Amino acid sequence: MWQATILTLFPDAFPGILGASLPGKGLKEGLWRLETLDIRAFARDKHASVDDTPYGGGAGMVMRADVIDAAIQGAEAKFGKPARKIYLSPRGRVLDQALVRELAAAESVLLLCGRYEGVDQRVIDAQGLEEVSIGDFVLAGGEVAAMVLIEACVRLLPGVLGNAETLGEESFGIGALGGGLLEYPHYTRPAEWQGAVVPEVLMSGHHEKIRVWRQEQAEKMTQLRRPDLYERYVMSKKNAKEEK
Ligand SMILES: C[S@@+](CC[C@H](N)C(=O)[O-])C[C@H]1O[C@@H](n2cnc3c(N)ncnc32)[C@H](O)[C@@H]1O
Repeated sequence: MWQATILTLFPDAFPGILGASLPGKGLKEGLWRLETLDIRAFARDKHASVDDTPYGGGAGMVMRADVIDAAIQGAEAKFGKPARKIYLSPRGRVLDQALVRELAAAESVLLLCGRYEGVDQRVIDAQGLEEVSIGDFVLAGGEVAAMVLIEACVRLLPGVLGNAETLGEESFGIGALGGGLLEYPHYTRPAEWQGAVVPEVLMSGHHEKIRVWRQEQAEKMTQLRRPDLYERYVMSKKNAKEEK
């Protein structure tokens, strides 16, 4: 069963939103497992300090290598070695759906949530931690980033969403839309709202026409909003044609 082990100074923050809706139901039903360890429990002095001032000076505090190392070893002793050991960090590889698929396919992930200025470089190196960022901005801590990563992974696990088709059709999917396009627009009742009507083709009941319209919309949307993704899509289509 897929397991996420979180090392954090704020274990009470979990499961948080991960305990709600379909991921929460999956958690209760044992489709995936969430474990949290309080980094402070691995502090070595009587003040339970987990951080100290940076060598070289400068603002803020740095999380201590010895404490983080002990916390990781503690997690491994309790739950076994994780398939992936990750430090959530703005310097890391930016999380995208390809990495989410990789992590969801792994047995287990250990997620280290930083605070303050971050973590002593020596423990990142010694533990071989992969750094993963959720985007080019700076959060106050890694907890929200860990939740983002977990939620994205958990919804890919068998049984969590219930309807596997949803996954194939959505943005960045590898299913029906193919090639990592953004998703086409959605509509529901009422058929007319504030003078705006639902595109006629969606009410036609003609499955092939609807499929073609959605594909075109997805392509248009991607070309307009994410030319980088669109270029990749065009290239992959071209390569697939050449391989035939
Ligand atoms: C205030 S940040 C440290 C920022 C660091 N001094 C820097 O400039 O790169 C504290 C912690 O929040 C987490 N964090 C902040 N931004 C993040 C992001 N974009 N993705 C993942 N984790 C992030 C990391 O765990 C980090 O150690």
